[in-house]
Amino acid sequence: MFEKIERVPGDAILGLIEAYNQDANPQKVDLGVGVYRDPNGHTPIMRAVKQAEARLLESEQTKSYIGSHGDPRYGKAILPLVLGAGSPVLAANRASATQSPGGTGALRLAADFIRTQLPGKSVWLSNPTWPNHIGIFEGAEIPIQRYPYVDGDNRLDFDGMLAALKQIPHGDVVLLHACCHNPSGFDLNQDQWRQVLAVVQERELLPLVDFAYQGFGDGLDVDAFGARLLAENLDEMLITSSCSKNFGLYRERTGCLIVIARTAEQMENVRSQMAIVARENYSTPPSHGAAIVVDILESEELTQLWKSELTEMCDRINTLRRDLVDSLKPYGLDQRFAHVAEQRGMFSYTGLSTAQVKRLRDEFSIYMVGSGRANVAGFTSENLPYVAKAIAAVVD
Ligand code: LMR
Repeated sequence: MFEKIERVPGDAILGLIEAYNQDANPQKVDLGVGVYRDPNGHTPIMRAVKQAEARLLESEQTKSYIGSHGDPRYGKAILPLVLGAGSPVLAANRASATQSPGGTGALRLAADFIRTQLPGKSVWLSNPTWPNHIGIFEGAEIPIQRYPYVDGDNRLDFDGMLAALKQIPHGDVVLLHACCHNPSGFDLNQDQWRQVLAVVQERELLPLVDFAYQGFGDGLDVDAFGARLLAENLDEMLITSSCSKNFGLYRERTGCLIVIARTAEQMENVRSQMAIVARENYSTPPSHGAAIVVDILESEELTQLWKSELTEMCDRINTLRRDLVDSLKPYGLDQRFAHVAEQRGMFSYTGLSTAQVKRLRDEFSIYMVGSGRANVAGFTSENLPYVAKAIAAVVD
């Protein structure tokens, strides 16, 4: 039976990890997968996480299953972080969180919920978007449509985006990146979010907000502006939240799907469906990462430590953005790459072509995604001059 099965190329982003590891060049630079790196190029475990883990090791009493919604304390801790502690949606009991294996697991929950409970709806994805969005929704057999997001000159195409949103059939699902757009790094400003809200209301769209990078743009609350604006002005929406980046819990697969419904009762109805979707996918979510998050967010001291570490990471990335532009000055390329300093989050759509990205990899052992997406956190003061020189060598 298996003789008919074809080999396929691996995932373009995850494949870079292996290619980079196999490269013997001591000057190699990894600007691929979206993980934070410190000035030594390491992806550290946050101190708050280490301390919470040490406490858990002592206090954990069982490894028995948790329910399909995960640890209720996790939902309680995450909802105010995402929606704001004073959110009227929380006060009205209109929101619920279903813990999931990372943000990806939450997206899959959303996709399966849409397929089973909202059949016939298409999902509208930004162009470009995180490539796995396409895989996840295709896998759930949901029709995919696209709206413009970045134009041919590598700028945010807000006019194009808005015009396209205005044409979406009533009731379809629109996936919006809350902040730190992956892959482009171009975010909406507050006025643009208000305009998106107006169109979503007018077209009665269901927003699915992917919130994977809270705290990596301009801070935990500023980054939540769009998600909270929609939550406070719409009856219904879905949010996928991830602790992979902001708690550095990548491999612990910690995230959740947040459902907001018109009434508390409707929320409970939807929530009951989420438990079925989770059960049929993976039964119950992994516990360890969520237990760490709960321990941190329930402790004032650990919360302070975690927030200061997160701010440090965010500030470092924003400094590196400016440093790259400065490093390109001697080559007369600072204006051409000025957008890198304006973008937000881990990624920059550099504007480098696929052919230029290939040359960077083949000739300089600099690894980034073929679309020209660079993980800004991969820069260090040591490798920036090398990277700038290499970029200057491959651009026209
Ligand atoms: C990325 O885009 O690099 C991250 O979200 C990691 C992943 O799973 O692709």
